Amino acid sequence: MERWTMKIIVTEKISDKGVALLQAVPDFDVDVRFDIEREELLKIIPEYDAIVVRSVTKINEEFYKHATNLKVVGRAGNGVDNIEMEGATKRGIIVVNTPESNIVSAAEHTIGLLLSSARNVVKAHKMIESRVWDRTGLKGSELLGKTLGIIGLGRIGGLVATRLQAFGMKIVAYDPYIADARFRKYSAEKCETLDELLEQADFISIHTPKTEETFDMITAKEFAKCKRGVRVVNCARGGLINENDLAAAIKEGIVASAGIDVLVDEPKPISPLIDLPECVLTPHLGADTTEAQDNVGIAIAEEVIAALHGEMVPNA
Ligand code: NAD
Ligand code: MLT
Repeated sequence: MERWTMKIIVTEKISDKGVALLQAVPDFDVDVRFDIEREELLKIIPEYDAIVVRSVTKINEEFYKHATNLKVVGRAGNGVDNIEMEGATKRGIIVVNTPESNIVSAAEHTIGLLLSSARNVVKAHKMIESRVWDRTGLKGSELLGKTLGIIGLGRIGGLVATRLQAFGMKIVAYDPYIADARFRKYSAEKCETLDELLEQADFISIHTPKTEETFDMITAKEFAKCKRGVRVVNCARGGLINENDLAAAIKEGIVASAGIDVLVDEPKPISPLIDLPECVLTPHLGADTTEAQDNVGIAIAEEVIAALHGEMVPNA
C-alpha cells in the first residue's frame, strides 16, 4: 500500500520535546536544520510540506516563490512579524503560532531588564570584573510610588502591569484597541493619547506587536515629551523604539537607562545602544526559559500536526 510521507523542516531551535512530538508521527519525515543558510533553505524548500521557525527565518514573498509544496508555517512563538501573512493567505498556506506559550517568560524578562537597568547591575558587574569596588555613579532608582507607562496592554503588557503593581508602581497605559474594561481589569489608568503617557511616566515599557503603525513609535519627538530621567524597556520588537534617537536621548540625559531585549537589525546588530553603559542588552531572550521553550515546542508541534492532518487548529 502506498503511504504519503509529509516532510517538515525545523529551521530554528525549538525544544527537544517539540521535535520528538513531530518525529513520533508515523507519516512525518522531520529534518532539523537549525541555522541553515538562507540560500540553501530556498533551494530545498520545494521538498517540504511544513516549516517550523522562530523569529529569525523570514517567510516572505521570495520564500513563498520557492516553497511550491508548502502547506503549513509553524511559528514557534508569539509575534508573526517575520511572516508575510498575505502571501500565505493567497496561496492557501496555513500559518499557526503559539501566542500564549511564552508570555510569562517575556513579562518576567521585561521586569528583569527594568530592574537591572534601573539599578546599574551590568555596569556594576563590569566594574567588579575589572577588580574595581566602587559605588560612585551607580546610584539607581526605586520603583515604589513611581509611574509605569505601558504601551500595549495586551497579554504581556497585562502580566507586567499586575506584577509591577506588587512593587507599588502606579500603572498608566496607552492602547487604543482595547475596551475600557481591560484597563480596569489591570487597574491601569487609561491614557487617551501616547503623549499623555509620555508626560507622566517615570518608566516606560512597550508591548505592542511590530506593525507599520508601531514601527518607530518612539522617536526623538516622543522623547522630547518625556520626563527627564525616564527609564525605558523594550522586550517586544526591535524598531518600535528608534535606536539612534534613544541613544541620543540617553546622551542628552532625557533617558536615564534602557533595558533592551530586541534590536531592529538583529541577529547581527550594529546598534549605537550596544556601546552605552546606561543600556542593559540581551539577545532576544524574552522567551528563552526552559518552561517557555517546552510550552512553545509542544504547542507548535501539536498545531503543525493538526494542520497537516486537516484537523481544527486553535491558533491558525
Ligand atoms: P498582544 O497582541 O496580546 O498585545 C499587544 C497589544 O498592543 C494589544 O492589546 C494591542 O491592542 C496593542 N497595540 C497594537 N497597536 C498599538 C498601538 N499602535 N498603540 C498602542 N497599543 C497597540 O501581544 P503580546 O502577546 O502581549 O506581545 C507583545 C509583544 O511582545 C509583541 O511584539 C511580541 O512579538 C513580543 N514578544 C517578545 C518576546 C521576546 O522574546 N522578547 C516574547 C514574546 C512576545
Ligand atoms: C516571540 O514572539 O515569541 C518571541 O519573540 C520569542 C521568539 O521568537 O523566540
